[in-house]
Amino acid sequence: MKQWHKDIVAYQIYPKSFCDTNGDGIGDIKGIIGKLDYLKSLGINTVWLSPCYPSPGDDNGYDISDYRGIASEYGTLDEFKEMLDGMHSRGIKLLMDLVVNHTSDEHEWFVQSRSSKDNPYRDYYIWRDPVDDHEPNEWVAAFGGSAWEYDELTGQYYLHLFSKKQPDLNWENPKVRQEIADMINYWLDMGVDGFRCDVINNISKDFTRAYAGGNGPRLHEYLHELHVKALEPHGAFTVGETWGLTPAQALDLTSEERGELTTTFQFEHLLLGRVNGDKFDPEPVDRKAFVDILAKWEYGLSEDSYPVLVMENHDQPRALSRFGDKNYPYESATMLASLLYGMRGVIFIYQGQELGLHDPIFNSLDEYRDIETLNAYRDLKSLGKFSDEELLRKMQFGSRDCGRTPIPWTTEKEGGFTNGTPWIKTQVDKGYTVEEQDGDEKSVLNFYRRLLSVRRSTACMGDGRFELLLNDGKTSVYTRTLDGETVYVVTRFDENECVMPECVPTDAKVILNNYDSFGNTLKPYQSVWLKK
Ligand code: GLC
Ligand code: CA
Repeated sequence: MKQWHKDIVAYQIYPKSFCDTNGDGIGDIKGIIGKLDYLKSLGINTVWLSPCYPSPGDDNGYDISDYRGIASEYGTLDEFKEMLDGMHSRGIKLLMDLVVNHTSDEHEWFVQSRSSKDNPYRDYYIWRDPVDDHEPNEWVAAFGGSAWEYDELTGQYYLHLFSKKQPDLNWENPKVRQEIADMINYWLDMGVDGFRCDVINNISKDFTRAYAGGNGPRLHEYLHELHVKALEPHGAFTVGETWGLTPAQALDLTSEERGELTTTFQFEHLLLGRVNGDKFDPEPVDRKAFVDILAKWEYGLSEDSYPVLVMENHDQPRALSRFGDKNYPYESATMLASLLYGMRGVIFIYQGQELGLHDPIFNSLDEYRDIETLNAYRDLKSLGKFSDEELLRKMQFGSRDCGRTPIPWTTEKEGGFTNGTPWIKTQVDKGYTVEEQDGDEKSVLNFYRRLLSVRRSTACMGDGRFELLLNDGKTSVYTRTLDGETVYVVTRFDENECVMPECVPTDAKVILNNYDSFGNTLKPYQSVWLKK
């Protein structure tokens, strides 16, 4: 791995909800440009920008109709380049979102493809004849219903693992692979530094399987091809969105000699607190498992295959609403950051996480915008098992919209996000705006700044070896060690205080602490970094 790849501290921007400058209620590129100094002040060195390409917006930009443009609601290509320059001049790299499992059905390729069976673009997508007048197989789409959509005009079905407005590209077709490689080169030549690769382990399909799923037989081959044709020549960084991998599979995708991806996200800890991982079905969080899973990934990857440290993104409700403690909002927010970001790996922070935001309150179904939420509501309702109230509680718990409401910049109306009507409700709680937290030493925001700065200036927090010394579900201790320097990360994941575990040295120096003092006991949700 290149050094800058290892050193990445990324901040994810969900552009629609970041900052609106023209009053249309939708965040825009000018809004990002205006906040670059804020980003710099956090101590991040990379931005991952969720899709800002032209899109009908069926899935908020994850349905792309033109891979080489900028959506007009976000701005122009020139503004995009100005933003990129503004980032680079501040030492910030830019990762774009690479959404190549599928396009929008309004992408020109699909418009052509569906127009006739002998159109040259027909096999850019996956078309199948009906089987006994039915869908070709039983696969279901991630947003509900069959993964196959019948198209009257040509009498065949096309595959869509997500919404029916997101037809899956046919990666078996070498022309498709070349188009994608060319498109990647187009952005890299412009100066973009890398990509977050959307549902990337789905690009190769295995039709012998009963369920639609990832890691098909040609996945490695396809990724290697992109690596050779586009990513490697530019030294680009990639992180794959890869649900459900084991550490061994992650290693296969990221080991240097294979030349595929640089890193992959793992989300196993984010399945906790959900019955069988079902995002609309809550259960108490197993706090021991939370730390054990993270430790498993620390141990499971190799020296040059870095874990990715993440707890929030635009597909997740706010981490604090599930893993935090409402009675200790500051302590639990900073504890989670200290616990996670003390580990070895590449850091990702999602917009608003640095403020310790909780899920906003949705009062009725019509406050939701997300296609997944709206479809899940419809599908769960049709089961006839849940009252409307129960359904709303489920959506409140699991909806992706919980993480998608606008950033509260100021205490003004709509949190200073827009002068107009926001595309989705804003939630502005006292003490949770950038304006209030910026100057407050005891804010979550300033804790994040301190954490990142301490981490940057402590050598063993980079490459240092990880070792878990204790995890009983309430208290954990792990170390990071490099060249004779050791940092102990000591964390109380519980509302009661406890005596200091014996494995914690008494003569070490406190370099990060979410309490003012550090003594013989660990306070509720206290987390401390100690250097020896
Ligand atoms: C990824 C994105 C998600 C999107 C889906 C389909 O999981 O993060 O937002 O809906 O892919 O593109
Ligand atoms: Ca706007």
